[in-house]
Amino acid sequence: MLRGLFRVSGRGAAFRARPSSAKLHLAVGAVCQESAFKYPPTSVPAMPSCNFTPEEYMGMSKERMMEIRRQNCNPMTMKITYYKKPLFIHQGYMQWLWDVDGRRYLDLFAGVATVSVGHCHPKVTAAIEQQLKRLWHTTNIYVYPPLHEYCEKLASYLPDPLKVIYLTNSGSEANDLAMLMARLHTGNYDILTLRGSYHGGSPQTMGLASNAAYKYPIANGLGCTNTMCPDVFRGPWGGRHCRDSPVQTIRECSCSQGHCMANEKYIGQLKETFATSVPNRIAAFFGEPIQGVGGAVQYPKNYLKEAYKLVRERGGLCIADEVQTGFGRTGSHFWGFQGHGVIPDIITMAKGIGNGFPLGAIVTTQEIAASFGKGVHFNTFGGNPVACAVASSVLDAIQEDGTQKNSLDVGTYLLTELAKLRDKYEIIGDVRGKGLQIGVEMVKDKVSREPLSQDAVNGIFEDIKDMGVLIGKGGICGQIFRIQPPMCITKEDADFFLAIFNKSLYNYMERR
Ligand SMILES: Cc1ncc(COP(=O)(O)O)c(C=O)c1O
Repeated sequence: MLRGLFRVSGRGAAFRARPSSAKLHLAVGAVCQESAFKYPPTSVPAMPSCNFTPEEYMGMSKERMMEIRRQNCNPMTMKITYYKKPLFIHQGYMQWLWDVDGRRYLDLFAGVATVSVGHCHPKVTAAIEQQLKRLWHTTNIYVYPPLHEYCEKLASYLPDPLKVIYLTNSGSEANDLAMLMARLHTGNYDILTLRGSYHGGSPQTMGLASNAAYKYPIANGLGCTNTMCPDVFRGPWGGRHCRDSPVQTIRECSCSQGHCMANEKYIGQLKETFATSVPNRIAAFFGEPIQGVGGAVQYPKNYLKEAYKLVRERGGLCIADEVQTGFGRTGSHFWGFQGHGVIPDIITMAKGIGNGFPLGAIVTTQEIAASFGKGVHFNTFGGNPVACAVASSVLDAIQEDGTQKNSLDVGTYLLTELAKLRDKYEIIGDVRGKGLQIGVEMVKDKVSREPLSQDAVNGIFEDIKDMGVLIGKGGICGQIFRIQPPMCITKEDADFFLAIFNKSLYNYMERR
């Protein structure tokens, strides 16, 4: 029984915690607090109610789908089927998914951080239906209202001078275009990224990805260089005040107010990369405001501001990849870059922009667009009328539903409660993020911060699914749970997940 027991196994020790507010200063600087978590690990509340009735599933059998998957689908779909017992999804409504057997799940991963306002959101569905009856497709060689209505609307969400929009079909395509634009505009070639980042699966963006799992053994990444990720939990430096999150790391910190040693050290690493690994003039720096696939990794508060300055001194453009952080997900701001007090030269977006409809965009300045305008750029589907109608209704839904505020409120609540679980369980090393972009890093123990084994992570992950909640995984070792739900989830949903997560951790501790 682990309730009330705080186990510290860094050197194999296990002991009872002191009263609830007691702080434990561990040998290498971890500071923990015994849990004030409200659910006994054995209790699992009922799933919050939902007044939507899905259609009865009458389609193909599960066995037949798996046979087709093996024989006719991209083999990667077999490799990455997320669960040991796969999930056969039939229908969705807002934060809920139903499988083919009619079982309901709370979706806290949103088809990889993509369903922004809710599955089959009525407003977005109505907008698609209306546009489908009017005009499915034409291209931007003609002038049609949905494209212009959307570009004007999206531009109104962006600060000057970011007002010129290119529409694409995916995030990879948007990032490809941003790489090309940066190179043409600056006349330089080299592009910098942070380790652990992911910017797409195209041959060009594969060079930006600093995560071996997404690399193929072909010549890639010509002109792409990565630098140390300023990860204040896993990296060599980090403390208790570094990041812009309601939850800080458990590492100790002796910085005086207004000073961040970790930031200085990581900026020092960036300067070393400039001095050793790239030419004096570069084309761009790509950064996610909070890493997505990397596992909600956050940088010290002023890192991006200082990095942008160094990049611009070398002639480079600063590119914010908002594919996961955009459209209000971080709660405090509409765009992730705003939380860092910077204005990029190019912003790329996808995923949440269309609530799951295939669409991407890049936004830049008139000046950069003019450099790119010297050649002809054409994209058959970019700016498709249906896609524009969808994206426009997504922006309206975000406004009408108060989605950004909900991200802030429910996200902050979830983060704060998850931090209590971190303090209770030795295997939760870090809880971080902002709004509904949350990461929970699983470790062998808090002292070593070594990643928890994949078997253990997968076991907990499967258990959470079996109890009715879907979350994601990320990080270079797959050791980070990701919570990036449709932004319509409620506090009641958050409580349900917290109880399930608590139970799955308890089950794991009992099993091991
Ligand atoms: C931050 C980021 N950028 C770009 C991409 C690529 O987007 P897409 O899969 O739409 O090509 C992803 C996808 O996960 C992403 O997370």
